[in-house]
Amino acid sequence: MSKLTIIYWSGTGNTQMMAEALFEGAKEVSDQVKLISVENATIQDVIDAEVVALGCSSMGNEVLDPDDMEPFVESIEEAVKSKKVFLFGSYGWGDGEWMRDWEKRMVEYGGLLVEEGLIINEAPDEGGLEQCRDYGRQLGQ
Ligand SMILES: Cc1cc2nc3c(=O)[nH]c(=O)nc-3n(C[C@H](O)[C@H](O)[C@H](O)COP(=O)(O)O)c2cc1C
Repeated sequence: MSKLTIIYWSGTGNTQMMAEALFEGAKEVSDQVKLISVENATIQDVIDAEVVALGCSSMGNEVLDPDDMEPFVESIEEAVKSKKVFLFGSYGWGDGEWMRDWEKRMVEYGGLLVEEGLIINEAPDEGGLEQCRDYGRQLGQ
């Protein structure tokens, strides 16, 4: 069992920076934290986590990455029932619609959102990274 498992997809590294900062913060308070790129993640990783943090940037037209994150999210529908879930990701020119849709979907799956989704415009600056570390510290406790 892991306390917190962070699973992410990132096209140009922006969401990856968020994921790594979350991981850094969580590691300060727990040694049971995992950081996994979605290409290497399995349903078992979700089952084995007390809290699962999923990260993906806004792609297509306000959707998740269609090749890896979208099918992964679909595959964990059963595994996230009654599971604490935190969502995060980077976006560009939109207003965060992809995150609102994603939150709604996780609630429909029966996931328990521990916080509102954390969204950051393009690459996180130092303030944004610190915000991610803070979330990591909270989620790792
Ligand atoms: C193919 C593609 C589609 C995108 N679609 C959206 C979009 O619908 N809404 C939005 O706000 N940003 C959109 N963006 C911008 C990215 O979400 C933004 O650059 C983000 O910082 C990328 O994060 P990443 O490096 O973690 O993938 C798109 C970018 C790409 C390359």
